[in-house]
Amino acid sequence: MNQPQHHTIPVSVSGSDRTYSIEIGAGTIGRLRDVIDFERYSSVALLTDENIPERFVGLIDGAVDNEYLEMLIKPGEITKDMETVEYVWQTLLENGFDRKSLLINLGGGVIGDLGGFAAATYMRGIDFVQIPTTLLSMVDASIGGKTGVNFGGVKNSIGAFAQPIAVIVDTDTLDSLPDREFTSGFSEIIKHGIIADRTYFDQATAKPPREFMDNELSRLIADSCRIKAAIVASDERELTGRREALNFGHTIGHAIEALKLETKNPMLHGEAIAVGMVAEARIALAMGELGKDDATRIENALSAAGLPITVTGLDPKDIMEKMRSDKKNTFGKIRWTLPTGIGQVVTGAESEDVTISEAIESVLA
Ligand SMILES: NC(=O)c1ccc[n+]([C@@H]2O[C@H](COP(=O)([O-])OP(=O)(O)OC[C@H]3O[C@@H](n4cnc5c(N)ncnc54)[C@H](O)[C@@H]3O)[C@@H](O)[C@H]2O)c1
Ligand SMILES: [Zn+2]
Repeated sequence: MNQPQHHTIPVSVSGSDRTYSIEIGAGTIGRLRDVIDFERYSSVALLTDENIPERFVGLIDGAVDNEYLEMLIKPGEITKDMETVEYVWQTLLENGFDRKSLLINLGGGVIGDLGGFAAATYMRGIDFVQIPTTLLSMVDASIGGKTGVNFGGVKNSIGAFAQPIAVIVDTDTLDSLPDREFTSGFSEIIKHGIIADRTYFDQATAKPPREFMDNELSRLIADSCRIKAAIVASDERELTGRREALNFGHTIGHAIEALKLETKNPMLHGEAIAVGMVAEARIALAMGELGKDDATRIENALSAAGLPITVTGLDPKDIMEKMRSDKKNTFGKIRWTLPTGIGQVVTGAESEDVTISEAIESVLA
């Protein structure tokens, strides 16, 4: 009964007949060879960061037939820049990597975004595999084909849409992930429930994040990947607005994240998004889009998961200003993604400035 469960989620790549799969479960890295035909590649490289425990790299050794080149970079958002991309390009070139090469990205969203971008551009694009090792990258960053780096002081300003040949989610890697990072990733899981599926929201908030058993966690991750993949498939390149559903909590959340980054106690992405979701749910409440019970349920669920629902040390004016400069706003207007219940959202909503500032002020402690 307690056999580890594996989930395979097929993802279709729009504009082509190509599909790839997301493999989820405990020990999936060990089964890499079942998913990837290494024979097809002239050379293989692994990109990872210094925080990823050696034993996971060891698992790759066992699972890859070919000899491979290892590139180890410094951990953290600071590394997600053009200089590191150049290092990857340069290393591949110096080692004779051609167009038939494969890049394996083992790490969190930083490794996935940067490695995905380096692969998408090297020799006009080589194949890459995402092996996300943070909860956030498992349920969010490694799905949807957005790759890129920070440039000119603007987050993710240079990048490309590129799909991996496979995403391998090995839940064993979460054992070494710091609790704060784990909880932060749960924020996106809860978001997926709020924007798309009430039953999923109830399951994901039934107990504190670290209390889910392996099989329950694999199932939660799989369902989150399904939700995100379905939304992405409906609007891969952000053209129709459907993908905007994923932005819930992110308009205010991103501004908070960016401003906190300049302080002595920055917030993790998921933490800032949790506060953003509370504020944006309150905008929805004030506009009559969302009922009081559901707004309260959202706040209680985030708080019970160990996520912050308020933030200290910020000025509401700075948050407003930061939001207006966000690249997601078309023609200077903020397009809100607001919940109209748990499990559904409206996108492209407009709101009065006073409603927005009241909501923001309500989450400032
Ligand atoms: N492409 C997208 O659609 C998308 C979506 C969301 C976020 N992102 C990007 O993802 C990045 C954030 O991702 P993240 O939260 O995974 O950050 P991250 O990659 O910086 O990882 C967080 C920290 O955990 C460490 N770590 C990773 N896996 C570990 C493990 N198994 N055990 C111990 N330590 C481990 C990392 O070294 C790092 O210090 C941001 O750059 C963000 O822009 C991209
Ligand atoms: Zn996010």
